[in-house]
Amino acid sequence: MTTFSPVGMKKIIVVAGSTGNLGNRICRELIKRGAEVRAIVRASADPEKIDTLKKMGVTVFTVDLNNIDEIAQACAGAGCVVSAVAGLRDVIVDLQKRMLDGAVKAGVPRFIPSDFCTDYTDLVPGENRNFDLRREFKAYLDRAPIKASSVFNGAFADILKYNTPVLNLKDKSIGYWGDKADWKLDFTTVDDTAAFTAEVALDDSAPEKLQIASFQISPNTLLEDMKSVTGETFRIHQLASLEDFARFIKKQRADNPAGENELYAKWQQAQYMYSMFTTQHNQLANGRYKNLTWTTAESYLSVIT
Ligand SMILES: NC(=O)c1ccc[n+]([C@@H]2O[C@H](COP(=O)([O-])OP(=O)(O)OC[C@H]3O[C@@H](n4cnc5c(N)ncnc54)[C@H](OP(=O)(O)O)[C@@H]3O)[C@@H](O)[C@H]2O)c1
Repeated sequence: MTTFSPVGMKKIIVVAGSTGNLGNRICRELIKRGAEVRAIVRASADPEKIDTLKKMGVTVFTVDLNNIDEIAQACAGAGCVVSAVAGLRDVIVDLQKRMLDGAVKAGVPRFIPSDFCTDYTDLVPGENRNFDLRREFKAYLDRAPIKASSVFNGAFADILKYNTPVLNLKDKSIGYWGDKADWKLDFTTVDDTAAFTAEVALDDSAPEKLQIASFQISPNTLLEDMKSVTGETFRIHQLASLEDFARFIKKQRADNPAGENELYAKWQQAQYMYSMFTTQHNQLANGRYKNLTWTTAESYLSVIT
């Protein structure tokens, strides 16, 4: 395979999904690290978002994403393609397959798929629709002549703001399933995920999977931290057994077929919570890049409260 960064030349990184929340920040972090960044965007992308990318120093390629040759042209000479697209089957499986085919056609040596979730590799297929789609694309990626690296960040820390059963700021409650009051949950901020992903994109020896977490926190520790950060008392309670939760999610999904076409259907959010309480990141790669610092639970919680 060709080497793509001769001494003195900037490494070229292609980013798909650059107009999105995570993708835009990945571009920013890559630019900070001196990369030449190319964004591949669709014709319907918001012109303001394109403008923001250009001002950042990103070269924007408007591409027909149904056309593998056009994707390949935009990828020529790149060292890595980073995908941060969000969607259902048409995006996570179909679009990412075309992007991968384009990258392979252009001879790009590395690909980072839009995983950015809890490490699903040890989870049971069928338990989480969005993970199943990633798994399906990963099977295709694993057969392609390209080196893949997946970034697993657990949940974006933002979910702690949204009054979920795990942390409800309105009624000051913290909830857990089963007997998991001391089970550590993996949270990563979007900014920490973006900085780490930029490092991975520039690191030709990055492994196939990288688990990260800005902070890992159990419901019991969250209870203590919320008290020390807000000075107020929160209530902690068991929500249900994990078995009952699984049954509830199955029924919720069966009763809401429209959710099959929604990215964040209510039952999908519940599936995500279920995954967080059934798998953990036990092999953190946080220390791989010495220049990175990670947001702590205390600092994050003090900003959102
Ligand atoms: N772990 C977590 O808690 C968590 C939470 C949220 C998201 N995520 C994951 O993080 C990744 C990035 O998500 P995000 O929140 O940054 O997404 P986002 O802000 O919604 O951005 C999505 C990006 O995908 C592009 N896209 C969507 N559909 C497309 C299509 N059909 N053709 C071409 N481009 C398309 C969008 O382009 P346009 O601007 O043209 O629409 C945009 O650039 C995804 O894998 C998502 O599932 C993880």
